[in-house]
Amino acid sequence: MSSLYRFGISLEQDLIKDFDSHIRKQNYRNRSEAIRDLIREALVRKQWEGKDEVAGAITMSYDHHKRTLVNRLMEIQHDFQPSIISSQHVHLDHHNCLEIIAVKGRASEIQKLADALKANTGVKHVTLSMSTTGRILK
Ligand code: NI
Repeated sequence: MSSLYRFGISLEQDLIKDFDSHIRKQNYRNRSEAIRDLIREALVRKQWEGKDEVAGAITMSYDHHKRTLVNRLMEIQHDFQPSIISSQHVHLDHHNCLEIIAVKGRASEIQKLADALKANTGVKHVTLSMSTTGRILK
């Protein structure tokens, strides 16, 4: 475990008042944990802009009755197989499916995969949740 490093921050009073109110609503017990999370978020965002290995999830909903769509989505996932850890398919109703694809790999490849899935007629919504492998972050 890494050792703690303490430092002071100078902020305008209004800013810290707003910050305290914001983190209270998010159930933080103290400023340190909230600031740690802000730093982690910035570092994870940087990982997604660079060549680091990242992890996350693609969530998509689609109408499986659209002709050839299911095959096309399957082909795309096989093309990007090295970036896919697992996937879960949920039948929402008679028409709609929800698929959650866990991903790990180079950020640019994962973004390409999400874009390729999104571009198909019958795909109603795609989100990419950008997270981290956690290796660099404490
Ligand atoms: Ni289904």
